Amino acid sequence: MNFKKMSIFHRGGAEDDYEQEAQSSGGVLAVWGSPGSGKTVTAVKLAKALADKKRNVALVLCDMTAPMLPCICPGSELECERSLGTILAAARIGESLIKHNCVTHKRLGYLTILGMQKGENEYTYPPYTEKQATELLDGLREIVPYVVIDCGSYIANDILSAVALMEADSVLRLANCDLKSVSYLSSQLPLLGDAKWDADKQYKVAANIKPQQAAEHIGKVLGSVAFKLPYSAELEEQYLAGNLLADLTMKDSRPFRKELEKIIREVFGC
Ligand SMILES: Nc1ncnc2c1ncn2[C@@H]1O[C@H](COP(=O)(O)OP(=O)(O)OP(=O)(O)O)[C@@H](O)[C@H]1O
Ligand SMILES: [Mg+2]
Repeated sequence: MNFKKMSIFHRGGAEDDYEQEAQSSGGVLAVWGSPGSGKTVTAVKLAKALADKKRNVALVLCDMTAPMLPCICPGSELECERSLGTILAAARIGESLIKHNCVTHKRLGYLTILGMQKGENEYTYPPYTEKQATELLDGLREIVPYVVIDCGSYIANDILSAVALMEADSVLRLANCDLKSVSYLSSQLPLLGDAKWDADKQYKVAANIKPQQAAEHIGKVLGSVAFKLPYSAELEEQYLAGNLLADLTMKDSRPFRKELEKIIREVFGC
């Protein structure tokens, strides 16, 4: 194992303070919503903000069609090459298997990432079932106080994302202020009509709001929303550069950062 001192799996010393603090808050958050709405950038920025606050956090990247691990930061910033596929391929998923297959970040010691590697797809590993997906999330709850899951939009074919939506303590439901998002939600929400789907744990989020999209327009298209994540040119540049774990330092990014903090306070209580 190659986990850093003071990192996610280290126990003892100064970290005890943080652990005690973390016990009073935390939880599992699934970030879900319409295709291209900003699920990945939002999930990554939430996980980074928690890690910056010295909270041990696991970021789960569910996308198996376009693995996002190679897209969120340069490979040289990561300590190892491991895959979420290896975990889901196991008949039984326990804590040690999860820990062995987490990817740690050289600079952000409180962050660990689970995702598919470059070149992999859903056929690289044997098929997994709801049981493995549930064991993975249960295991993560034991290992870390904070879990942020970047879900896929196509939940009918994506067991991990579907299970994450059911099992999470809270769900951010992202939509853009356009008709495609409205159409997506009216098509997909009935799939979640299951008794286990707790609609109360959802927070509606208007994402990637452009300057011309006034509050009145958002209300008309999406109804009332809990959070409004504004467009940030710096964030878009980081996405294009594959550098989402960098800091957002520009003045124009301030409204995005403020809303992110609001989400963290409300959802995680910290
Ligand atoms: N707040 C924002 N500011 C600037 N750009 C944003 C913002 N939110 C999303 N974007 C941009 O929208 C695009 C889609 O973002 P992202 O990949 O996170 O969406 P997604 O919902 O994960 O997509 P997919 O359905 O393909 O998984 C990217 O170009 C990203 O930079
Ligand atoms: Mg995505």
